[in-house]
Amino acid sequence: MTIVIAVDGTAASGKGTLAKRLARHFGFAHLDSGSLYRLVALGVVQAHGDPANEADALKAARAIDPKRAGDPVIRTAEIANVASVVSAFPAVRATLLDFQRAFAATALPGAVIDGRDIGTVVCPDATAKLYVDAAPEVRAHRRWLELQAAGHPREESAILAEIEARDARDRNRAVAPLKPAADAYLLDTSYLDIDAAFAAALALVKPGVENALKARQGG
Ligand code: CDP
Repeated sequence: MTIVIAVDGTAASGKGTLAKRLARHFGFAHLDSGSLYRLVALGVVQAHGDPANEADALKAARAIDPKRAGDPVIRTAEIANVASVVSAFPAVRATLLDFQRAFAATALPGAVIDGRDIGTVVCPDATAKLYVDAAPEVRAHRRWLELQAAGHPREESAILAEIEARDARDRNRAVAPLKPAADAYLLDTSYLDIDAAFAAALALVKPGVENALKARQGG
């Protein structure tokens, strides 16, 4: 069994940055599962399809190329919003499940996967699970700062509205809704900067991950 750290949480909670830093710390592979849903969204948009149409979303899901996960075109707010629509279709989620599980099963010595349902659906037996959240206003402000720094300023109130709408869609869908796994460590980063959040995340997952690494060396 590989060692998996599941990092789930709300939009712009900092889970991606935490996941990357945890992966670097332990020398694990990292998968940003949100990028897969964003690639599906991109496929629908580029085909001029309707994101609310299951057939259009499924066609795009079957055609994604995970190697394009680093493409900056999937990082826009429009693509994030479309991603949260297409991701509600069970058939879309089922199509992406095999890729995510294969990644978890083959990454050596382990994997860090971030998303919404990693600890609940994709890897329910993960070695350690984190659920990352922060107050919506804090998350909107962080995204506003990022966009300012990148030279794409936007209204903070519009960012907040989008984040809240996306969280609501993610929480209220019937399949794999956004929620903490029963055995997840909850991490609220509202009052933590990224270094403090990383220190807190590491302190939570380290005992379980180190035990698993030791157990594997022993066996
Ligand atoms: O980075 P950010 O939190 O803004 O979003 P993301 O992780 O890239 O995810 C974009 C959208 O994909 C989310 O709002 C979800 O609707 C969907 N998603 C999902 O349904 N399940 C996952 N495991 C990851 C993302």
